[in-house]
Amino acid sequence: MKKQEINTLKEQFILSKHITHLNHGSFGACPKPIFDNYQFWQLKLEQEPVNFYVNEGMQHLEKSRNVLASYVNCKPQNIVFTTNPSYAINIIAKSFDLKEGDEILSCNLEYGALIKTWDYYCKKAKAKFVTTEITLPIISKEKIIDQFFENVSAKTRAIFISQITSSSALILPVKEICERAKELDLITIIDGAHVPGHIHLDLSELKADIYTGACHKWMLTPKGCSFLYINDEFKNHFDPLIISWGYDLNSNFSDHHELQGTRDYSAFLTIPTAVQFLKDNDWESVSRTCKELVLTNYEKTSSILNSKPICPINADYLGQICSSSVKTSEPEKLKTILYKEFNIEVPIMQLGNEFYLRFSAQGYNNQDDIDLLHQALETIKKQTNLLQS
Ligand SMILES: Cc1ncc(COP(=O)(O)O)c(C=O)c1O
Repeated sequence: MKKQEINTLKEQFILSKHITHLNHGSFGACPKPIFDNYQFWQLKLEQEPVNFYVNEGMQHLEKSRNVLASYVNCKPQNIVFTTNPSYAINIIAKSFDLKEGDEILSCNLEYGALIKTWDYYCKKAKAKFVTTEITLPIISKEKIIDQFFENVSAKTRAIFISQITSSSALILPVKEICERAKELDLITIIDGAHVPGHIHLDLSELKADIYTGACHKWMLTPKGCSFLYINDEFKNHFDPLIISWGYDLNSNFSDHHELQGTRDYSAFLTIPTAVQFLKDNDWESVSRTCKELVLTNYEKTSSILNSKPICPINADYLGQICSSSVKTSEPEKLKTILYKEFNIEVPIMQLGNEFYLRFSAQGYNNQDDIDLLHQALETIKKQTNLLQS
């Protein structure tokens, strides 16, 4: 895609123009046509609240569910809308029926909030959240898979792993991991927060038992739009997080979890508009261009930061985000300088005892943005002692 076309796309996003936004990963960013649709639903709700909650809104919610199900290739009957992946995984962890001694097998690359969720419910049940070490740099898919299963035991009940990790920004081979887990008769729970709209997602092909994805990241919906998928075998095993009108074992799966008193469903209702936006703007090609930006710049970013890439530089491991190790004793200060002095929004995230700078490329970015990041890091390196070698 030419620079000019990307710049036209940039105009469609609501993002402040004076910031170079290289952190799509944390909270996404919503284009104006999709945001307009969000406000359209909010207005409609306020104009006729009774009719909206009781009749019309529910029909639109079903339409959204159908469109999302078709986008991720599963049956709509297996999808529940949630505000975020944390909500979805809390549904699972809270009523997993963990017994004393049970183990949930996971790894060191998982997202902090969800480690807390599992930790909390595992401790409550005297079960164990087992964190296997996947070593960086990544060498091969086979090694990831072997390392992940190193700590499997007779007590393991389920696996929990991200398809794209948070601070390390790595695509993990979850299809192969799910296959191995099934051979071991384990329940498979996948955190796909970063996946929808980012890399290929086909839930029928993946065959995870349980999967959560955020639509407000790479599918470009407004905030508060995510989903929980549970397959037919397990979908009736979990209580809703909020016990309210929908609580009825005879009600359908989505009502069971979604009907929870008065709340704003508007973000969920933007799915058809978001999917249409992705189609109208040939987002597969936009995404491909962004992935190229990541692949061509990753080595240089790491080199400026005096580090080495943490995986082979190819599409098996990298999508539209990448992370480089940063040696600094003042990560907060580094982040603040990048934001306040260079107007660059880019996260510096902790993983174990290390820090990583993670940049993203989305339809509103081009090479100039990444050049600005590189120049800013070079300047900081010259003028401060924040970046150690
Ligand atoms: C791997 C991963 N899982 C889950 C989430 C979503 O978390 P939340 O529920 O806090 O929106 C994120 C957010 O960035 C993430 O990176």
